[in-house]
Amino acid sequence: MVYKMAKVKSKWICQTCGYETSGYLGKCPDCSSWGTLVEETYSKSPARELSSIADSRNSSPQLLKDISLDESIRYTTGMLEFDTVLGGGLVMGSLVLIGGDPGIGKSTITLQSCGNLAKNGLKTLYVSAEESAKQIKLRAERLNVNSENLYIFAENNIEEIQKTLTELKPEILIIDSIQAVYNPAITSSPGSVSQVRECCGILMHIAKSMGITVLVIGHVTKDGAIAGPKVLEHMVDTVLYFEGDRYKSYRLLRTIKNRFGSTNDVGVFNMEENGLVEVSNPSELFLSERSNAIAPGSVVIASSEGSRPILVEIQALVGPTSYPSPRRVTTGIEYNRVLQILAVLEKRVGLNLSKQDVYVNAVGGIDIQEPAADLGIALAVATCARNVTVDPETVIIGEIGLSGEIRSVSNLESKINEAYKLGFKKVLVPKSNLPLKTIPHNLEIIGVSRLLEAITSSISVASNK
Ligand code: TYD
Ligand code: MG
Repeated sequence: MVYKMAKVKSKWICQTCGYETSGYLGKCPDCSSWGTLVEETYSKSPARELSSIADSRNSSPQLLKDISLDESIRYTTGMLEFDTVLGGGLVMGSLVLIGGDPGIGKSTITLQSCGNLAKNGLKTLYVSAEESAKQIKLRAERLNVNSENLYIFAENNIEEIQKTLTELKPEILIIDSIQAVYNPAITSSPGSVSQVRECCGILMHIAKSMGITVLVIGHVTKDGAIAGPKVLEHMVDTVLYFEGDRYKSYRLLRTIKNRFGSTNDVGVFNMEENGLVEVSNPSELFLSERSNAIAPGSVVIASSEGSRPILVEIQALVGPTSYPSPRRVTTGIEYNRVLQILAVLEKRVGLNLSKQDVYVNAVGGIDIQEPAADLGIALAVATCARNVTVDPETVIIGEIGLSGEIRSVSNLESKINEAYKLGFKKVLVPKSNLPLKTIPHNLEIIGVSRLLEAITSSISVASNK
C-alpha cells in the first residue's frame, strides 16, 4: 500500500460518544455530557482510507444469485455457550468485539477459547497489549491452556502487530485490549477515540483482506475518559458484552450486534478457580441455595435473558417500620416497578403497607427486567405480609396492570418448559395467555386474571398443604 504525505489536522472529539467537531464545545451536542470534548490531532491521507476499503471488498458488482456462501466457515471456540452467542461459532474472517468492565473476565474467556481453537489446529496469535508474556503464561497455566499453536506477543504498536501478522500468518488474532494499542502515525494518546477507531479500522482491514478472524477486547468505562467500545460498534461484525457483578461469580455474555446470527442469545458462565465454566442450566445456579423449608415471602418466578428462560427466587421482607416514612429497598429489581406493584397491592387488594417497611430481593445478584416478574414480586410481598407461604413447587408468571389485572407475557411456553425441567409441579400464568399449544405432562397450569385471585389461589395452595 502506498502512503501519501500525511496532512496534520486536529479535531475535537467527544470521548464518550465519538462526536466530532472542528472547535471546542463545553457540552457534547450528541450525548449531552460536559467537558468530554478533547482535541485530537491526526495525520491521515483520505486516499489511504479509501484504498483500504477498496482492498477489502470485491471491486466489481456481482449478481446476488452468483455470490457463493461457502466461505462462511465457522470455528468452534470449544465452549458451547460462547458458540451459541456467536450464532454457531466464530465466522472465518470476521471481527468480533468483546466489551465489558475491567476485571470481569474478558481476557480469561478469550484465552480459554484461544486454547481450544489452537488445540483444533488453528494458528492463533494472542497480542497482549496490557500484560507481559509472563503474566499470560501464568494465567494460561492456571486455565490449563497449553497448545503448540498458540503464540503470545506482548506488543502495543499496531504497525509491529501488522508486520508480525504478515510473517506469522495466523488464522486467529486476539487483541487485548484495543485501548492499549496505538498507531504511531497518530499523535493522540492510546485509548483516545481517534486511536481506537484507527486501530480498529486497520484490524478490520486485516480481517477482511487476509481472512484472519479477529477478536478484539475493549473496556467499557463509565466516566467515558477512555474511548469505549461504543465508538467501534458500527465498524465490527459482532459485538458481545460480557457482564456480571464483580462480587458474584456468574457472568453473562450477551450479543448486542451480530451480522452472522441473532442477538437474542445469552451465554451464562461461572467464574471459578480455574477459569470460566459454562453453565448450561442457569436456573439451577440461581435456585441452588433455595432451602427446602420455604419461608413466607419466597417465590420462584420465570424471567428471561434474551430468548432464554431463567428461574429466579424473589424474596420479600415486610415488617412494621420504625422510621417516620416506611422504607422500600429493592435489590436486582427496578425500584419504581416495585413501588408501582405495592400501590396496586394497596389499592386493588386492600393490603395496607403504609406503616410497613418492604424489602425485595432477586436472589443470586441477577437483574430482573422483565414485567413477567410482577406477579411473583406481588405474591412475595403479600405472602410475607400475611405470614403465609406460596407452594414451593409453584412458579409464578405474569405482568400486573394498574387496575390489578394480570396481563399476558411473552415466551410463556419456554418459561413453562424451564419450570418443568427443574421439577416444578404447578405454574401460575395469566389467563389471557391460555390456551397454550403444548404443555408438558404432569404440569398443572393455573390461569389467573386478577391479582386478588392470584393471591387467593396461591395462598389456598399453601394452606392445603
Ligand atoms: P480478567 O480476564 O483478567 O478480566 P478482564 O480481562 O476483563 O479485565 O479476569 C479478572 C478476574 O477474574 C480476576 O479478578 C480474577 C478472576 N479469575 C478467576 O477467578 N479465576 C481464574 O481462573 C482467572 C484466570 C481469573
Ligand atoms: Mg484483561
